[in-house]
Amino acid sequence: SFTPRVFSGIQPTNHLQLGNYLGAVKRFVEMQNDGMETIYCIVDLHAITVWQDPADLKHATRELAAAYLACGLDAEKSILFNQSQVPQHAELGWIFNCVTRLGWMNRMTQFKDKAGKNAEKASLGLYAYPSLMAADILAYHATHVPVGEDQKQHVELTRDIAAKFNHDYGVEFFPETQPIIEGAATRIMSLRDGSKKMSKSDPSDASRINLTDDADTIAKKIRKAKTDPEPLPEALDGLEGRPEARNLVNIYAALADISPEQVIAEHGGTQFGQFKPALAELAVEKLAPISEEMARLMADVAEIDRVLGKGAERAAEIAEPILAKTYDIVGF
Ligand code: ADP
Ligand code: NA
Repeated sequence: SFTPRVFSGIQPTNHLQLGNYLGAVKRFVEMQNDGMETIYCIVDLHAITVWQDPADLKHATRELAAAYLACGLDAEKSILFNQSQVPQHAELGWIFNCVTRLGWMNRMTQFKDKAGKNAEKASLGLYAYPSLMAADILAYHATHVPVGEDQKQHVELTRDIAAKFNHDYGVEFFPETQPIIEGAATRIMSLRDGSKKMSKSDPSDASRINLTDDADTIAKKIRKAKTDPEPLPEALDGLEGRPEARNLVNIYAALADISPEQVIAEHGGTQFGQFKPALAELAVEKLAPISEEMARLMADVAEIDRVLGKGAERAAEIAEPILAKTYDIVGF
């Protein structure tokens, strides 16, 4: 059996958005503070599966580190680092490319979404992304992976890869990793379209709240969020078929650390003309300190680089012996 160990990662692309915060980082911090062994990564190798301007990538990497820290991640309690600085990710990723079956990859819905209609023009890296993600997780024998709903299929593939490796080589070397997808915010939707998830790569800035947005921008985006004309229902099941209303209730619940039922108990029957300002006030109260702290940290990038360098050393201390043993199992 395996010691419980948490791993997760976020791509350094654009600015972190509210869905990343509520569905991922806020929960990373909770697991850290629950005393679990926690490893959190800035997955720049994943970022370049679609084109990234090099200067933008460097900036986004540091900004994501600042966001992690500003949200409460403690670089002493957790290991915080940058994927490209720990070569074991790419090395184990290659071995997993040789374990993973094409048929499995062909079922990955995120590739289909990201590649779009012209999949012939997508990079090979975008196709192989889930195999590298399995390496990110399994290079640490991580047992628990907190993620949003959109990553469920990839964590399940990680389990398949571990099982096939263990079976093919007749070992019990890699753990069966559990995805941890919990709470009201596992899938925050776009503010402009209740059928699309909020994403930092959505071309519409109005579709999301960025952690770098100031108080006025946050309030304006919430005020303009798409809704229907009905007031909030008196019971939770009244949100069925109302994805935009449901989304704002979920955002409120996650920000306030209460359940969607409690939000309805307090706000059921109110019009959006009243609920939106309450939500905006709550969002500003919770997010403004984060963006201020991010700005403060970004004023000293040398310190951020030092934190990431130290984190990479600690990460490699765990991943190196696991990769060495993998090489031995494979026959290298
Ligand atoms: P994005 O899709 O915004 O580019 P990433 O792919 O880097 O973000 O995902 C980082 C983490 O944030 C993952 O755990 C992912 O599941 C989570 N996440 C992304 N978007 C959302 C969302 N809209 N709601 C909840 N969690 C999300
Ligand atoms: Na994603």
